[in-house]
Amino acid sequence: MKTIFFAAALTLAAAQSAWAGDLEAGKAKAAQCAVCHGPNGLSVLAEAPNLAGQPEMYLVQQLINYRSGRRPHEVMAIMAKPLTNKEIEDLSAWYASIKVEVK
Ligand code: HEC
Repeated sequence: MKTIFFAAALTLAAAQSAWAGDLEAGKAKAAQCAVCHGPNGLSVLAEAPNLAGQPEMYLVQQLINYRSGRRPHEVMAIMAKPLTNKEIEDLSAWYASIKVEVK
């Protein structure tokens, strides 16, 4: 049973790293998000959430949802509309890679 779990965890880890976006490209692209989400993904606006340290798969999903209109939001719909799948992956990888400390 333990072996099966371990194998599953390994497969998941491999799948995630294969899927991971390009951090440098994501960081460069994130310049246009900084006015609201901050240069390090820590919000500088009352309405905007922190993005730093959020799970990559969560960020990918939210951006896809804004782009499709499944998660309606006036501003984020405009921001997400022109993003390609690759750009969404890169941006998400970048924000997910920022380390936040919880005490
Ligand atoms: C003009 C301000 C503004 C800009 C620029 C902006 N955002 Fe946002 N973003 C917001 C606001 C406001 C919300 C909260 C929307 C909601 O309530 O759904 C948000 C929400 C999000 C969320 C969902 C976070 C969560 O916790 O669910 C993600 C992901 C996100 N933005 C990514 C981006 C990315 C990537 C960019 C750049 C391509 C960007 N945003 C640019 C204002 C902005």
